[in-house]
Amino acid sequence: MLLQDLKPLTRAPLIDPFGRKISYLRISVTDRCDFRCVYCMSEHMQFLPRQELLTLEELDRIASAFVARGTRKLRLTGGEPLVRRDIMQLFRTLSRHLETGALEELTLTTNGSLLSKYAQELADYGVKRINVSLDTLDPDKFREITRRGDLKVVLDGIAAARRVGMRVKINAVALKGVNDDEIEQLMLWSHGLGMDLTLIEVMPMGEIEAGRVDQYLPLSVVRSRLMDRYTLIDDPYRTGGPARYVRVKETGGLVGFITPLTHNFCESCNRVRLTCTGTLYMCLGQEDAADLRAAVRGSMDDTALFQAMDEAIARKPKGHDFIIDRRQSKPAVGRHMSVTGG
Ligand code: GTP
Ligand code: 5AD
Ligand code: SF4
Repeated sequence: MLLQDLKPLTRAPLIDPFGRKISYLRISVTDRCDFRCVYCMSEHMQFLPRQELLTLEELDRIASAFVARGTRKLRLTGGEPLVRRDIMQLFRTLSRHLETGALEELTLTTNGSLLSKYAQELADYGVKRINVSLDTLDPDKFREITRRGDLKVVLDGIAAARRVGMRVKINAVALKGVNDDEIEQLMLWSHGLGMDLTLIEVMPMGEIEAGRVDQYLPLSVVRSRLMDRYTLIDDPYRTGGPARYVRVKETGGLVGFITPLTHNFCESCNRVRLTCTGTLYMCLGQEDAADLRAAVRGSMDDTALFQAMDEAIARKPKGHDFIIDRRQSKPAVGRHMSVTGG
Protein backbone atom coordinates (compact mmCIF):
# COMPACT_ATOMS: atom_id res chain seq x y z
CA MET A 1 0.00 0.00 0.00
CA LEU A 2 1.28 3.46 -0.82
CA LEU A 3 1.78 5.93 1.98
CA GLN A 4 -0.69 8.44 0.52
CA ASP A 5 -3.39 5.77 0.64
CA LEU A 6 -3.07 5.90 4.42
CA LYS A 7 -3.54 9.64 4.60
CA PRO A 8 -7.34 9.82 4.78
CA LEU A 9 -7.26 7.32 7.64
CA THR A 10 -4.66 9.20 9.66
CA ARG A 11 -6.71 12.40 9.21
CA ALA A 12 -9.63 10.88 11.06
CA PRO A 13 -11.04 12.99 13.90
CA LEU A 14 -9.56 12.52 17.35
CA ILE A 15 -12.08 10.71 19.53
CA ASP A 16 -11.29 9.67 23.07
CA PRO A 17 -12.27 6.41 24.80
CA PHE A 18 -15.43 8.04 26.18
CA GLY A 19 -16.59 9.05 22.70
CA ARG A 20 -15.73 12.72 23.17
CA LYS A 21 -14.49 14.41 20.03
CA ILE A 22 -11.46 16.65 20.47
CA SER A 23 -12.23 19.90 18.71
CA TYR A 24 -10.58 22.51 20.94
CA LEU A 25 -6.84 22.95 21.45
CA ARG A 26 -5.48 25.37 24.03
CA ILE A 27 -1.83 26.26 23.54
CA SER A 28 0.17 27.80 26.33
CA VAL A 29 2.80 29.65 24.31
CA THR A 30 4.83 30.70 27.35
CA ASP A 31 4.75 29.99 31.08
CA ARG A 32 5.87 33.56 31.75
CA CYS A 33 3.62 36.35 32.82
CA ASP A 34 4.02 39.99 33.73
CA PHE A 35 1.58 39.47 36.63
CA ARG A 36 1.73 37.05 39.58
CA CYS A 37 -1.93 36.53 40.46
CA VAL A 38 -2.20 35.19 43.97
CA TYR A 39 -4.38 32.21 42.99
CA CYS A 40 -2.29 31.31 39.96
CA MET A 41 1.38 31.70 40.84
CA SER A 42 3.67 31.99 43.77
CA GLU A 43 5.50 35.27 44.26
CA HIS A 44 8.84 33.82 43.15
CA MET A 45 8.02 31.57 40.25
CA GLN A 46 10.79 29.71 38.47
CA PHE A 47 10.15 29.99 34.75
CA LEU A 48 11.42 27.62 32.10
CA PRO A 49 14.73 28.37 30.44
CA ARG A 50 14.02 29.86 27.01
CA GLN A 51 15.95 27.14 25.17
CA GLU A 52 13.36 24.56 26.28
CA LEU A 53 10.58 26.28 24.38
CA LEU A 54 9.26 25.02 21.10
CA THR A 55 9.78 27.51 18.31
CA LEU A 56 6.78 29.32 16.88
CA GLU A 57 7.15 27.18 13.76
CA GLU A 58 6.99 24.00 15.84
CA LEU A 59 3.92 25.26 17.69
CA ASP A 60 2.32 26.04 14.36
CA ARG A 61 3.09 22.58 13.09
CA ILE A 62 1.49 20.85 16.07
CA ALA A 63 -1.52 23.16 16.00
CA SER A 64 -1.94 22.52 12.28
CA ALA A 65 -1.78 18.77 12.87
CA PHE A 66 -4.65 19.16 15.35
CA VAL A 67 -6.59 21.25 12.85
CA ALA A 68 -6.08 18.49 10.29
CA ARG A 69 -7.57 16.07 12.82
CA GLY A 70 -10.70 18.04 13.60
CA THR A 71 -9.75 20.90 15.91
CA ARG A 72 -12.11 23.80 15.19
CA LYS A 73 -11.09 26.16 17.97
CA LEU A 74 -7.58 27.29 18.89
CA ARG A 75 -6.91 29.40 21.94
CA LEU A 76 -3.50 30.76 22.80
CA THR A 77 -2.89 31.14 26.50
CA GLY A 78 0.09 31.45 28.83
CA GLY A 79 1.25 32.57 31.33
CA GLU A 80 0.46 35.63 29.34
CA PRO A 81 0.51 34.81 25.63
CA LEU A 82 1.26 38.37 24.54
CA VAL A 83 4.58 38.48 26.42
CA ARG A 84 6.08 35.84 24.13
CA ARG A 85 8.44 37.44 21.64
CA ASP A 86 7.11 37.66 18.06
CA ILE A 87 3.83 36.03 19.06
CA MET A 88 2.01 37.91 16.29
CA GLN A 89 3.88 35.68 13.85
CA LEU A 90 2.07 32.65 15.25
CA PHE A 91 -1.33 34.36 15.02
CA ARG A 92 -0.50 35.33 11.46
CA THR A 93 0.45 31.82 10.34
CA LEU A 94 -2.44 30.16 12.20
CA SER A 95 -4.91 32.54 10.61
CA ARG A 96 -4.50 30.63 7.33
CA HIS A 97 -6.72 27.93 8.83
CA LEU A 98 -9.47 30.50 9.33
CA GLU A 99 -9.19 31.46 5.70
CA THR A 100 -9.58 27.88 4.51
CA GLY A 101 -12.53 27.38 6.86
CA ALA A 102 -10.79 24.47 8.61
CA LEU A 103 -10.76 26.48 11.82
CA GLU A 104 -13.82 28.18 13.26
CA GLU A 105 -12.15 30.29 15.91
CA LEU A 106 -8.67 31.60 16.68
CA THR A 107 -8.54 33.38 19.98
CA LEU A 108 -6.64 34.02 23.19
CA THR A 109 -7.02 34.45 26.91
CA THR A 110 -5.02 37.40 28.12
CA ASN A 111 -4.48 39.53 31.19
CA GLY A 112 -4.92 42.56 28.94
CA SER A 113 -1.66 44.31 29.81
CA LEU A 114 -0.42 44.34 26.22
CA LEU A 115 -3.72 44.62 24.41
CA SER A 116 -3.30 48.27 23.58
CA LYS A 117 -0.22 47.32 21.62
CA TYR A 118 -1.59 44.25 19.86
CA ALA A 119 -5.38 44.68 19.48
CA GLN A 120 -5.25 45.90 15.89
CA GLU A 121 -2.91 43.13 14.72
CA LEU A 122 -4.97 40.48 16.46
CA ALA A 123 -8.08 41.73 14.70
CA ASP A 124 -6.18 41.72 11.40
CA TYR A 125 -5.36 38.03 11.92
CA GLY A 126 -9.00 37.11 12.39
CA VAL A 127 -9.32 37.17 16.18
CA LYS A 128 -12.92 38.21 16.76
CA ARG A 129 -13.55 37.43 20.41
CA ILE A 130 -11.11 37.43 23.32
CA ASN A 131 -11.22 36.65 27.00
CA VAL A 132 -9.61 39.07 29.40
CA SER A 133 -8.94 38.07 33.00
CA LEU A 134 -10.08 40.77 35.40
CA ASP A 135 -11.11 40.04 38.97
CA THR A 136 -11.75 43.53 40.31
CA LEU A 137 -12.32 47.13 39.26
CA ASP A 138 -10.61 48.52 42.34
CA PRO A 139 -7.05 49.65 41.45
CA ASP A 140 -5.59 48.80 44.87
CA LYS A 141 -7.25 45.40 45.01
CA PHE A 142 -6.14 44.78 41.44
CA ARG A 143 -2.55 45.40 42.44
CA GLU A 144 -2.94 43.10 45.45
CA ILE A 145 -4.41 40.25 43.42
CA THR A 146 -1.98 40.51 40.50
CA ARG A 147 0.91 41.58 42.76
CA ARG A 148 2.17 43.91 40.03
CA GLY A 149 -0.55 44.79 37.52
CA ASP A 150 -1.88 48.24 36.75
CA LEU A 151 -5.66 48.31 36.36
CA LYS A 152 -5.63 51.36 34.10
CA VAL A 153 -3.35 49.65 31.59
CA VAL A 154 -5.72 46.68 31.43
CA LEU A 155 -8.81 48.86 31.08
CA ASP A 156 -7.10 50.77 28.26
CA GLY A 157 -6.27 47.42 26.65
CA ILE A 158 -9.90 46.31 26.84
CA ALA A 159 -10.98 49.62 25.31
CA ALA A 160 -8.46 49.16 22.48
CA ALA A 161 -9.79 45.67 21.74
CA ARG A 162 -13.37 46.94 21.65
CA ARG A 163 -12.40 49.84 19.40
CA VAL A 164 -11.06 47.47 16.76
CA GLY A 165 -14.32 45.52 16.90
CA MET A 166 -13.34 42.50 18.97
CA ARG A 167 -15.89 41.05 21.36
CA VAL A 168 -14.48 40.91 24.86
CA LYS A 169 -15.51 38.49 27.58
CA ILE A 170 -14.37 39.20 31.11
CA ASN A 171 -13.12 36.25 33.18
CA ALA A 172 -13.20 36.70 36.93
CA VAL A 173 -12.06 34.13 39.46
CA ALA A 174 -14.42 34.27 42.44
CA LEU A 175 -12.30 34.82 45.55
CA LYS A 176 -13.75 34.65 49.02
CA GLY A 177 -13.22 37.83 50.99
CA VAL A 178 -11.53 39.49 48.02
CA ASN A 179 -14.01 40.15 45.24
CA ASP A 180 -17.21 38.50 46.46
CA ASP A 181 -18.60 41.93 47.33
CA GLU A 182 -17.84 43.17 43.82
CA ILE A 183 -19.32 40.56 41.57
CA GLU A 184 -22.50 42.49 40.99
CA GLN A 185 -20.48 45.58 40.10
CA LEU A 186 -18.28 43.59 37.72
CA MET A 187 -21.42 42.25 36.08
CA LEU A 188 -23.04 45.68 35.71
CA TRP A 189 -19.84 47.18 34.35
CA SER A 190 -19.29 44.33 31.85
CA HIS A 191 -22.88 44.26 30.68
CA GLY A 192 -22.99 48.05 30.50
CA LEU A 193 -20.21 47.86 27.90
CA GLY A 194 -21.83 44.95 26.06
CA MET A 195 -19.34 42.38 27.40
CA ASP A 196 -20.26 39.03 28.89
CA LEU A 197 -18.83 38.00 32.24
CA THR A 198 -17.66 34.53 33.18
CA LEU A 199 -17.08 33.60 36.79
CA ILE A 200 -14.60 30.85 37.64
CA GLU A 201 -14.16 28.71 40.73
CA VAL A 202 -10.60 28.70 41.99
CA MET A 203 -8.89 25.40 41.20
CA PRO A 204 -6.25 23.69 43.36
CA MET A 205 -3.31 23.75 40.96
CA GLY A 206 0.27 24.21 42.14
CA GLU A 207 1.63 25.35 45.50
CA ILE A 208 0.93 29.00 46.26
CA GLU A 209 1.38 31.11 49.37
CA ALA A 210 -2.34 31.49 50.10
CA GLY A 211 -4.57 28.66 51.28
CA ARG A 212 -7.07 27.50 48.67
CA VAL A 213 -9.68 26.92 51.36
CA ASP A 214 -9.47 30.60 52.23
CA GLN A 215 -9.79 31.61 48.57
CA TYR A 216 -12.48 29.19 47.48
CA LEU A 217 -15.92 30.63 46.93
CA PRO A 218 -18.45 28.14 45.47
CA LEU A 219 -20.28 29.69 42.54
CA SER A 220 -23.53 28.18 43.80
CA VAL A 221 -23.30 30.82 46.54
CA VAL A 222 -22.58 33.62 44.08
CA ARG A 223 -25.43 32.53 41.88
CA SER A 224 -27.96 32.50 44.67
CA ARG A 225 -26.81 35.92 45.87
CA LEU A 226 -27.27 37.31 42.36
CA MET A 227 -30.71 35.70 42.22
CA ASP A 228 -31.78 37.75 45.23
CA ARG A 229 -31.59 40.86 43.05
CA TYR A 230 -31.69 39.73 39.44
CA THR A 231 -33.63 37.37 37.22
CA LEU A 232 -31.27 34.73 35.83
CA ILE A 233 -32.58 32.76 32.88
CA ASP A 234 -30.70 29.64 31.75
CA ASP A 235 -29.35 30.28 28.28
CA PRO A 236 -28.37 27.75 25.62
CA TYR A 237 -25.39 29.91 24.45
CA ARG A 238 -22.24 27.75 24.11
CA THR A 239 -18.71 28.58 23.04
CA GLY A 240 -17.20 25.12 23.18
CA GLY A 241 -15.70 26.08 26.57
CA PRO A 242 -16.83 24.79 29.97
CA ALA A 243 -19.01 27.76 30.99
CA ARG A 244 -22.76 27.43 31.36
CA TYR A 245 -24.63 30.68 30.88
CA VAL A 246 -27.56 32.59 32.23
CA ARG A 247 -29.05 35.72 30.73
CA VAL A 248 -29.66 38.45 33.24
CA LYS A 249 -33.08 39.86 32.46
CA GLU A 250 -32.39 43.29 33.95
CA THR A 251 -29.12 43.91 32.02
CA GLY A 252 -29.63 41.78 28.93
CA GLY A 253 -26.08 40.41 29.33
CA LEU A 254 -24.78 36.88 29.88
CA VAL A 255 -23.07 35.53 32.97
CA GLY A 256 -21.14 32.30 32.56
CA PHE A 257 -20.32 29.94 35.41
CA ILE A 258 -17.25 27.69 35.30
CA THR A 259 -17.76 25.28 38.13
CA PRO A 260 -15.14 22.53 38.18
CA LEU A 261 -15.73 22.05 41.90
CA THR A 262 -19.44 22.42 42.52
CA HIS A 263 -20.55 20.96 39.22
CA ASN A 264 -18.29 18.94 37.06
CA PHE A 265 -18.57 19.47 33.31
CA CYS A 266 -16.06 16.82 32.24
CA GLU A 267 -18.60 14.62 30.46
CA SER A 268 -18.71 17.11 27.61
CA CYS A 269 -14.97 17.85 27.54
CA ASN A 270 -13.76 18.51 24.00
CA ARG A 271 -10.33 19.97 24.75
CA VAL A 272 -6.67 19.21 25.33
CA ARG A 273 -3.81 21.55 26.14
CA LEU A 274 -0.35 21.89 24.72
CA THR A 275 2.41 23.57 26.70
CA CYS A 276 5.21 25.70 25.28
CA THR A 277 7.59 22.74 25.61
CA GLY A 278 5.40 20.43 23.54
CA THR A 279 3.81 18.52 26.39
CA LEU A 280 0.19 17.62 25.79
CA TYR A 281 -2.07 17.46 28.85
CA MET A 282 -5.21 15.51 28.17
CA CYS A 283 -6.92 16.90 31.29
CA LEU A 284 -6.35 20.11 33.22
CA GLY A 285 -6.80 18.29 36.50
CA GLN A 286 -4.61 15.21 35.96
CA GLU A 287 -0.86 14.69 35.78
CA ASP A 288 -0.72 12.36 32.79
CA ALA A 289 0.80 13.96 29.71
CA ALA A 290 2.30 13.07 26.34
CA ASP A 291 5.46 14.40 24.74
CA LEU A 292 4.83 15.80 21.28
CA ARG A 293 8.18 17.56 21.09
CA ALA A 294 10.10 14.39 20.31
CA ALA A 295 7.62 13.53 17.56
CA VAL A 296 7.79 16.96 16.01
CA ARG A 297 11.58 17.19 16.19
CA GLY A 298 12.19 13.62 15.09
CA SER A 299 10.88 13.99 11.57
CA MET A 300 9.65 16.54 9.07
CA ASP A 301 6.85 14.17 8.17
CA ASP A 302 3.78 14.27 10.45
CA THR A 303 3.26 10.51 10.70
CA ALA A 304 4.98 10.21 14.09
CA LEU A 305 3.20 13.31 15.33
CA PHE A 306 -0.22 11.94 14.35
CA GLN A 307 0.66 8.67 16.05
CA ALA A 308 1.73 10.42 19.25
CA MET A 309 -1.54 12.40 19.18
CA ASP A 310 -3.58 9.22 18.73
CA GLU A 311 -1.79 7.53 21.62
CA ALA A 312 -2.33 10.56 23.84
CA ILE A 313 -6.04 10.90 23.10
CA ALA A 314 -6.49 7.19 23.74
CA ARG A 315 -5.41 7.95 27.34
CA LYS A 316 -7.62 10.98 27.94
CA PRO A 317 -9.09 10.47 31.40
CA LYS A 318 -12.73 10.72 32.24
CA GLY A 319 -12.29 13.87 34.29
CA HIS A 320 -10.54 15.75 37.04
CA ASP A 321 -10.72 15.17 40.80
CA PHE A 322 -10.52 18.68 42.18
CA ILE A 323 -11.35 18.96 45.87
CA ILE A 324 -10.85 21.94 48.14
CA ASP A 325 -11.36 21.30 51.82
CA ARG A 326 -9.44 21.50 55.07
CA ARG A 327 -8.37 17.85 55.02
CA GLN A 328 -6.92 18.14 51.54
CA SER A 329 -3.89 20.40 51.89
CA LYS A 330 -2.04 19.37 48.74
CA PRO A 331 -3.07 20.71 45.31
CA ALA A 332 -4.79 18.22 42.99
CA VAL A 333 -1.96 18.67 40.51
CA GLY A 334 1.54 19.95 41.17
CA ARG A 335 1.82 22.28 38.21
CA HIS A 336 0.54 25.82 38.26
CA MET A 337 -2.25 27.06 36.02
CA SER A 338 0.33 29.14 34.14
CA VAL A 339 1.89 25.95 32.73
CA THR A 340 -1.25 25.03 30.82
CA GLY A 341 -3.02 28.40 30.71
CA GLY A 342 -6.18 26.93 32.21
P1 GTP B 1 -14.75 30.49 25.89
O1 GTP B 1 -14.32 30.16 24.50
O2 GTP B 1 -15.11 31.93 26.03
O3 GTP B 1 -15.78 29.57 26.42
O4 GTP B 1 -13.47 30.30 26.81
P2 GTP B 1 -12.96 29.12 27.72
O5 GTP B 1 -13.76 29.11 28.98
O6 GTP B 1 -12.88 27.87 26.94
O7 GTP B 1 -11.47 29.62 28.00
P3 GTP B 1 -10.81 30.55 29.10
O8 GTP B 1 -9.37 30.59 28.75
O9 GTP B 1 -11.51 31.83 29.21
O10 GTP B 1 -10.96 29.70 30.40
C1 GTP B 1 -11.74 30.10 31.48
C2 GTP B 1 -11.49 29.20 32.63
O11 GTP B 1 -12.00 27.92 32.34
C3 GTP B 1 -10.03 29.02 33.00
O12 GTP B 1 -9.87 29.22 34.38
C4 GTP B 1 -9.76 27.60 32.64
O13 GTP B 1 -8.84 27.05 33.51
C5 GTP B 1 -11.10 26.97 32.80
N1 GTP B 1 -11.20 25.76 32.01
C6 GTP B 1 -11.18 25.65 30.65
N2 GTP B 1 -11.29 24.36 30.29
C7 GTP B 1 -11.33 23.65 31.44
C8 GTP B 1 -11.41 22.25 31.73
O14 GTP B 1 -11.43 21.40 30.86
N3 GTP B 1 -11.44 21.91 33.04
C9 GTP B 1 -11.40 22.82 34.03
N4 GTP B 1 -11.45 22.38 35.27
N5 GTP B 1 -11.33 24.13 33.80
C10 GTP B 1 -11.29 24.54 32.53
N1 5AD C 1 -8.14 28.55 39.49
C1 5AD C 1 -9.06 29.07 38.64
N2 5AD C 1 -8.76 29.91 37.64
C2 5AD C 1 -7.48 30.27 37.53
N3 5AD C 1 -6.89 31.08 36.64
C3 5AD C 1 -5.56 31.09 36.91
N4 5AD C 1 -5.28 30.31 37.98
C4 5AD C 1 -6.46 29.78 38.38
C5 5AD C 1 -6.85 28.88 39.41
N5 5AD C 1 -5.96 28.33 40.25
C6 5AD C 1 -7.62 31.76 35.57
C7 5AD C 1 -7.17 33.13 35.18
C8 5AD C 1 -7.57 33.21 33.72
C9 5AD C 1 -7.75 31.80 33.28
C10 5AD C 1 -6.91 31.37 32.13
O1 5AD C 1 -7.45 31.00 34.40
O2 5AD C 1 -7.76 34.14 35.89
O3 5AD C 1 -8.79 33.88 33.54
FE1 SF4 D 1 -0.58 35.75 34.79
FE2 SF4 D 1 -3.03 34.90 34.17
FE3 SF4 D 1 -1.63 33.65 36.06
FE4 SF4 D 1 -2.53 36.12 36.51
S1 SF4 D 1 -3.78 34.28 36.14
S2 SF4 D 1 -0.45 35.36 36.95
S3 SF4 D 1 -2.39 37.07 34.56
S4 SF4 D 1 -1.12 33.72 33.94
